[in-house]
Amino acid sequence: MALVTMNELLPAARKEKRAVGAFNVANYETALAILKAAEAEKSPVIIQVYDRLFESYKAADLAGTLLRLARRADVPISLHLDHGTSLEHVAAALHAGYTSVMLDGSRLPFDENVRVTRQAVDFAHGAGCSAEGEIGHVAQGDETALTVVDEAVKFAAATRVDALAVSIGTAHGYYKAKPKIDVERCREIAEALPDLPLVLHGGTGTPLEDVRAVIRCGIAKVNIATEFLDTYLKSSRAELEKLDGKFIPPDKFYDPVVEACAAHAARLIRFFAGR
Ligand code: 13P
Repeated sequence: MALVTMNELLPAARKEKRAVGAFNVANYETALAILKAAEAEKSPVIIQVYDRLFESYKAADLAGTLLRLARRADVPISLHLDHGTSLEHVAAALHAGYTSVMLDGSRLPFDENVRVTRQAVDFAHGAGCSAEGEIGHVAQGDETALTVVDEAVKFAAATRVDALAVSIGTAHGYYKAKPKIDVERCREIAEALPDLPLVLHGGTGTPLEDVRAVIRCGIAKVNIATEFLDTYLKSSRAELEKLDGKFIPPDKFYDPVVEACAAHAARLIRFFAGR
């Protein structure tokens, strides 16, 4: 149906108190699984790629496949650069055909974060695409810095981001202990920014009742990477064990793996949509 920017997806989701799932993919099979899940759920979806893949040809090579999948999908799909670390990667993503970018300046001092994010927003808007920024810091093996409401408001106005990632107690990767999600902080940020779609990073393992609560407050995009990509690894291992050393062409080998990944993503897409 359509390759779209996040602006065709997230403002409506925020208004309707639902969220769009944003899944990190790493290859054709994981991307195909997301397409299948979104089509099965008749829901839009965001396919995103780690910044790391922009350090080599991987992200640009993969873009050809992702663009083709998005264009043949019968649901709207955005292609997004996740946690962009430089303006070069932002420009490379836009050049390769991704329709949305994130510049993650969340470890930088406030003014510096504003400066680089604003440049990324200008690049994205100049290309007719959408841009996400992050204020506060969602831990990535380092320390969390929860988002301060006033800073979020100033950051949004100064950068003109189309979607804002906030830090409200989640962390990237599997949790060692149950996280404490600050739903009240999310509500306050959302009330101060009534029209701006908010983004939840670190979706893996976040208790679903908390995810539901923050979607009601204004989270319109939920990022899922680790648990989805781990489904791919675990189900590949299970299929290999079944083979017990016998040969099978890899395209056939991956069919059930894609189905397992699609089923996992479909459950989440349905939940985020409030169904
Ligand atoms: P998880 O790996 O915790 O799902 O986080 C995903 C994410 O936020 C990607 O930006």
